[in-house]
Amino acid sequence: MNKQKSILDIQKMKESGEKITVLTAYDYPFARLMDQAGIDMILVGDSVGSVVAGYDNTLPVTMDEMIYHTRAVVRGSSSAVIIADMPFLSYQVDLREARLNAGRLVKEGGAHAVKLEGGENIAATIAAIVAMDVPVVGHIGLTPQSIHRMGGYRVQGRQDEQARQLLADAQAVAEAGAFALVLEGIPSELARQITAAVSIPTIGIGAGVHCDGQVLVIHDILGLCEKYSPKFVKRFADVSDTISQGIGDYIREVKDGTFPGPEHSFK
Ligand code: KIV
Repeated sequence: MNKQKSILDIQKMKESGEKITVLTAYDYPFARLMDQAGIDMILVGDSVGSVVAGYDNTLPVTMDEMIYHTRAVVRGSSSAVIIADMPFLSYQVDLREARLNAGRLVKEGGAHAVKLEGGENIAATIAAIVAMDVPVVGHIGLTPQSIHRMGGYRVQGRQDEQARQLLADAQAVAEAGAFALVLEGIPSELARQITAAVSIPTIGIGAGVHCDGQVLVIHDILGLCEKYSPKFVKRFADVSDTISQGIGDYIREVKDGTFPGPEHSFK
């Protein structure tokens, strides 16, 4: 069994230049496989709403759903740092609610850290959660909970003014006490500048190679999500054909009576 990692190990990786690996997981079996493979952090993303529940976006995901999935992931993992996403409406309304919900993800879910979307606008909330000793990961750029403001999932920070704002956002998140920062859907050069400007590790998704680490959605890298495949996703394996073939074989063998055979039956 690998040693349990902590946020201090993650912070040291920025200093040493070792790239940080992060994948999303929503259940016990995937968390186990990732943990055994040596992943540094597992994100229980609110992307569960899209890739597991089949919603069009992440907005309908609830606190109770996040706690349920976080518990399953925590049970499957013994070494990775587990980050749980704070779903839409769990931290935007007021600080008291944000602190309570962050606390629930740690107390009931077993997460080591929480992630919330936003920059300067959410810095006070990050500081309030960090002040109760819950480690926070920030998330700026293409923030899926802002889909309606952004008018879709679009690359952010291509215009100078937007890029300046994202740099200010990154600094505000770091100053508020976050221990890491997800940069999603921004130009590589801007991600390079942000990574150089902040002391905390940056974890990129669609943000190029200069980030301190990378995160991807597990269903995307395994070819389990056919609905939509953004440019930044690389398919490291394609398991849907294997799954379809297994299910097809099962149906055929039950129908033609070759399953169950004597070796699967009791005397
Ligand atoms: O919900 C999620 O999976 C995320 C990552 C894509 C960064 O926020």
